[in-house]
Amino acid sequence: MTRSAALTLRGVTKHFGAAVAVDGVSLDVAPGSMLGLLGPSGCGKTTVLRAIAGLVPVTAGTITVDGEDITARPPHGRDIGLVFQQYALFPHLSVAANVGFGLEMRGVAAAERRTRVAEALAMVQLSGLDGRRPRELSGGQQQRVALARALVIRPRILLLDEPLSNLDARLRDELRVEIRRIQQRLRITTVFVTHDQAEALAMCDVVGVMSQGRVAQIGPPAEIYERPVSRMVAEFVGRLNTWPCEVVAPGRIRLDGREMPAATDGVANGAALATIRPHRLLLGGAAPAGALNHVTGQVTHVAYVGDLVQYHVAAGALQLRVEAHAARHAETHRVGDVVECRWWPDDLRVFGA
Ligand SMILES: Nc1ncnc2c1ncn2[C@@H]1O[C@H](COP(=O)(O)OP(=O)(O)OP(=O)(O)O)[C@@H](O)[C@H]1O
Ligand SMILES: [Mg+2]
Repeated sequence: MTRSAALTLRGVTKHFGAAVAVDGVSLDVAPGSMLGLLGPSGCGKTTVLRAIAGLVPVTAGTITVDGEDITARPPHGRDIGLVFQQYALFPHLSVAANVGFGLEMRGVAAAERRTRVAEALAMVQLSGLDGRRPRELSGGQQQRVALARALVIRPRILLLDEPLSNLDARLRDELRVEIRRIQQRLRITTVFVTHDQAEALAMCDVVGVMSQGRVAQIGPPAEIYERPVSRMVAEFVGRLNTWPCEVVAPGRIRLDGREMPAATDGVANGAALATIRPHRLLLGGAAPAGALNHVTGQVTHVAYVGDLVQYHVAAGALQLRVEAHAARHAETHRVGDVVECRWWPDDLRVFGA
């Protein structure tokens, strides 16, 4: 139904007056893959999407689709489907008319229009609701209509700007799986903007983390999560313990007065920050024996959150946040327990201070 296209941005920059919204963004989206753009509010995600769609002219840089430079083309000449956070449906038109609108604009004959609208509605599992008005649909259904409307024109590229953020958690999970299924079935090259890190990691082939108009890191989800290049990226994609430390030699740090191995990856000797994810800290019996770093501390806080137990542990000058799978409730530690906390040295990642 769609053709898988390659999308490339080179040095894309957008100034609004003196403000720099997007600052030299270069990235490649492989044909048929989904790129997640992640980052804090105001970092330029929507502006990048709008630039790709042609809704804002870029200040500098080029955008190509399958090697063809589309930077100067008007939006309607770009063959791009868009879904925004707000459903932006026409309230006075039926579902079918909303979905068929783009086809009508393109002069597609009525008979073919009907076939393609029915096909698109089936894809988003809305067959039978063609006659309804948007206000007669739930939020999730409205967003499905918006998706059908974007797909019905058989775009080369699909752009999704926080399409799930107005939905409640359950609908969000459901539609997330469905969008991914449709994207993979159509093999449509997609850019998915979100500020929800779990969403980006779970759904996308490649994740780009943006900060202040730039791409801070881009790579497969596991790489972004396991080998973040900066503290900013590490903090943005998941929970993190952060402690001041000193790099004493490549691969060795001093942490709270003790020397130990850590992943220092090119950080110079001297003051630095040691970081580790809470679930990589292993308490007591849960930790395999071996050449693991360890500290002994006292549990100061326990929060049972169903599938996880979160602990705060005080060990010397260090405050540790630890997350363990809630196995059996009887095995949960209590406030005041003295616990040994272990970790693999390469899970302790060090960044320059
Ligand atoms: N039309 C505009 N005129 C002036 N400044 C703008 C305009 N659109 C965006 N900006 C600014 O550009 C920067 C990037 O905005 P953008 O909407 O791309 O951020 P975002 O990453 O999508 O944020 P959010 O997560 O809140 O949606 C912001 O500082 C914003 O205020
Ligand atoms: Mg935005």
